[in-house]
Amino acid sequence: MMSRSATRVARSVLTHVGPRYFSTAVSRGGAASDVAALGGYVHGGAANFVHGPAKGPEKVVVTWMRVPVLGSRNASTLALGERQQEEEKKKVQAGSDGGAAAGGGGNGNKSIVSYWGVEPAKVTKEDGSEWRWNCFRPWEAYKADLSIDLSKHHAPVTFLDKVAYWTVKALRFPTDLFFQRRYGWRAMMLETVAAVPGMVGGMLLHCKSLRRFEHSGGWIKALLEEAENERMHLMTFMEVSQPRWYERALVFAVQGVFFNAYFLTYLISPKLAHRIVGYLEEEAIHSYTEFLKELDKGTIENVPAPAIAVDYWRLPKNSTLRDVVMVVRADEAHHRDVNHFASDIHYQGHELKEAPAPIGYH
Ligand SMILES: [Fe+2]
Ligand SMILES: [Fe+2]
Repeated sequence: MMSRSATRVARSVLTHVGPRYFSTAVSRGGAASDVAALGGYVHGGAANFVHGPAKGPEKVVVTWMRVPVLGSRNASTLALGERQQEEEKKKVQAGSDGGAAAGGGGNGNKSIVSYWGVEPAKVTKEDGSEWRWNCFRPWEAYKADLSIDLSKHHAPVTFLDKVAYWTVKALRFPTDLFFQRRYGWRAMMLETVAAVPGMVGGMLLHCKSLRRFEHSGGWIKALLEEAENERMHLMTFMEVSQPRWYERALVFAVQGVFFNAYFLTYLISPKLAHRIVGYLEEEAIHSYTEFLKELDKGTIENVPAPAIAVDYWRLPKNSTLRDVVMVVRADEAHHRDVNHFASDIHYQGHELKEAPAPIGYH
C-alpha cells in the first residue's frame, strides 16, 4: 500500500514539477489556469488520486493527498464545513468561468475568491487608469539615475579583493563561451543569478538582527530592495527573450549551487561576499554596454520596451529596448556602489549597522 501511494505521489510531483521548471511554455495567465485547476479540485478532479466520490474519513485523506497538486493555498479547505464548501464550490465555479480573461500579472484575477474576506487592493495610475501589475505597485516605480558614473572600478588590493576579482573573472569565461553575443539571453540568464545575493545577505542580516536583539542600520531593507530590483530586471528581460528548456534546466542547477555557495561565503566573510557582488556588478555594466553596442549596430533588434518596463522605470510610452538597457545598466552601477561600500565598511573594522544603508534608491 505504502509503495503504491509513494509511487502515485512521486508521479504527481514529477508531472507538476517537470513542466513548471523546464517547460518552455509561456507562463502568463497562470492565475487563470490556477483557477481552472481549482475548479477541477472542487468538482472532484485530481484524477490521479480519486476514483469516484469520497466518503467520511476517506474524504479527509483524499483532500490531504491533493495538497501537493494544488499547493498549500487550498489546504485550508480542510477547515471548512460541508455547507461552506458547497458555497465555495459555487463561487469558484462562477469565478472560473471568467478566469480565462485574467491577464499576465494584471489585476484581472477577479475569479479568485476567498472566504477570508481579504479584498484585493484597487490601485490606479496617476492618470486614474487601472494599475495592471500585481508584482509591483506605482509607489515602487522610479526613475533610474542615468547620471551615475559607469566607469568606477574598485582596484583589488588585498588578498580577499583579489580572490573576489578573479572569482568573477573566472566565472565570466564560461558565460562568454555559452552566450557569446546573444546579449538578450545573457541578460535574462544572468539576472536569475544576480537576484540571489541580495536575498541571501538580507536574510542573514535579518536573522542576525533577531539573534542579537539589534538594529540593522537599514541594510536588510537595502539588500532586499536590491534583490527585488534584480528580479524586476528578470521579469523585464523575459518579455523580450524566452528561455529554452535547457536554459531553464541550467538556471535550476546554477541556482542550487550559487545560492549555497554565496550563503556559505556570506557566513564566513561578508566583506568577501559583498566584494564579489561589487565585481559581478562591474561585469554586468560591461555586459549591458556590449548589449547597447549590438543594439546600435542593428545586430539586435531595438524592439519597443515591454509594458512592465515602461511602468517600472517610469519611461515614456514610446521607449525601446535600448532605453530599458540604459536604465538597467544604471541600476547595476548602483548595486556595484552599494556592495563595494558594504565591503569597505567591513574592511574598516565596522559592522554594516554602523553606517546607514543607502535605502530608498527607488
Ligand atoms: Fe540586474
Ligand atoms: Fe545588479
